[in-house]
Amino acid sequence: MRIEQIRPRWSARTIVVLTFFLAVVGGAIAGCTAAQPGAASAPTGFDVPGDMLPQTIAEGRQIFRFETFGDEQFWTDTARMHEVVQKSVSPTTALSVGLKVDAEAIPADVAAAIKAGQVDLDSPATTVTLLKLNAVVGLKGTVNTVGGRDTLVRLGITCALCHSTVDNSFAKGIGRRMDGWPNTDLNVGAIVALSPAITPAQKAVYGSWGAGKYDPRYNLDGKSTPLVLPPAYGLASIRNETFTAEGPISYWNAYVAITQMHGRGNFADPRLGIDIRQSPDLVAPKLAALRAYQHSLQTPAPPAGSFDAAAAARGRSVFNANCASCHVGATGTDNNSGVLHDPSETGMSAAYAMRTANKRYRTTPLRGLWQHPPYFHDGSAATLDAVVAHYNNARRLGLSASQQSDLVQFLKSL
Ligand code: HEC
Ligand code: HEC
Repeated sequence: MRIEQIRPRWSARTIVVLTFFLAVVGGAIAGCTAAQPGAASAPTGFDVPGDMLPQTIAEGRQIFRFETFGDEQFWTDTARMHEVVQKSVSPTTALSVGLKVDAEAIPADVAAAIKAGQVDLDSPATTVTLLKLNAVVGLKGTVNTVGGRDTLVRLGITCALCHSTVDNSFAKGIGRRMDGWPNTDLNVGAIVALSPAITPAQKAVYGSWGAGKYDPRYNLDGKSTPLVLPPAYGLASIRNETFTAEGPISYWNAYVAITQMHGRGNFADPRLGIDIRQSPDLVAPKLAALRAYQHSLQTPAPPAGSFDAAAAARGRSVFNANCASCHVGATGTDNNSGVLHDPSETGMSAAYAMRTANKRYRTTPLRGLWQHPPYFHDGSAATLDAVVAHYNNARRLGLSASQQSDLVQFLKSL
């Protein structure tokens, strides 16, 4: 279709009337938004310009998988994790806390030896070898020869630690990388709790989070309401990231890289009273490529036969009638037009929201739901059946049992 075919032929008068109407309605909407408390916008400067060229995406992939932003300054110099791993983390232990191994980084002879049971998976030295091969997803080790022996001298973490998993094609926990898929097995708290640098009180908190969860503010405000590790795929059309819509993707990437991974860079957010400056800034120059890579990550389609298509089609109408007012359009979120929801609107705990800049939750864009249970920011719904039962109760929807099961099938199809 050529552009002139769709250009509306409006008279000047119609345009004047329309402009007036839009100004009035726009004013009303703006007034309503302004009346909501805590709606200060995210600090600017994070939405850096960038392109989606193949080489930019490839660069972003490298950063997502392997870049530590200099966070060894924490994980090595402060937390001494290199010593912990060298001394006591065998591959069996690593896999048991949900760490994943990239099978494609393992040379064929080593892979064959593992298959033949000739590699000691209960020895920390094997973990050091895997780190030397750059095969542990989300961990970046520097291995030097010290006294004729492979020694782990530096250790840092990357984005892939929490936001990648593997397809288990080689063995459980060992396979091809699946970037953007949250590592729902990863027990970040248990890993951090191994550090000799933390106090017994902190250890108790880290130990309480469990697999697939992390609290990205505990080290700042001392409170603990851990969040589900969310997918980093399917975000290309989403305006604000995180459960509480803190800001655009690069804002959050910088927040995590600097305040959580402890990478080197500048991050300031007056809303949260954070002002960290470290030069050289190893984060800012990487944000555009990192964003391009994340935006290239597509939502994985549900496996064939994983839902009942006829029931899902019926479930779509149940969804349209009860859910689509917030989970709007193709993105599945009304936050692209700036809307946030009070925790009580969806029957959510307010505890986490109260610790954030906006104090309210973003309608989560629904994507790859089949792939990443549990649901809601705190993982309070273990299954999609539990999600639907929660809404039926919290919003008094009065859905019949068959409407509920149709809706579940529809959610499985997203
Ligand atoms: C220690 C685990 C961990 C690491 C490492 C980590 N994240 Fe996250 N990430 C989280 C958690 C937890 C959240 C949920 C925060 C929220 O939504 O409030 C999150 C949220 C996100 C989101 C928002 C997803 C959404 O639904 O809107 C994106 C995108 C993201 N992270 C990308 C990254 C990138 C890029 C890096 C590396 C710079 C990174 N993360 C490092 C744990 C981690
Ligand atoms: C009033 C707005 C609103 C309505 C109506 C609504 N939702 Fe939500 N939805 C939200 C918000 C806000 C969240 C984030 C809540 C949280 O994580 O604590 C959410 C989260 C979800 C999630 C979790 C996604 C994830 O990845 O964890 C699912 C699934 C979901 N909603 C499905 C539904 C279904 C099904 C309905 C209809 C029965 C519905 N929603 C109705 C606002 C709404």
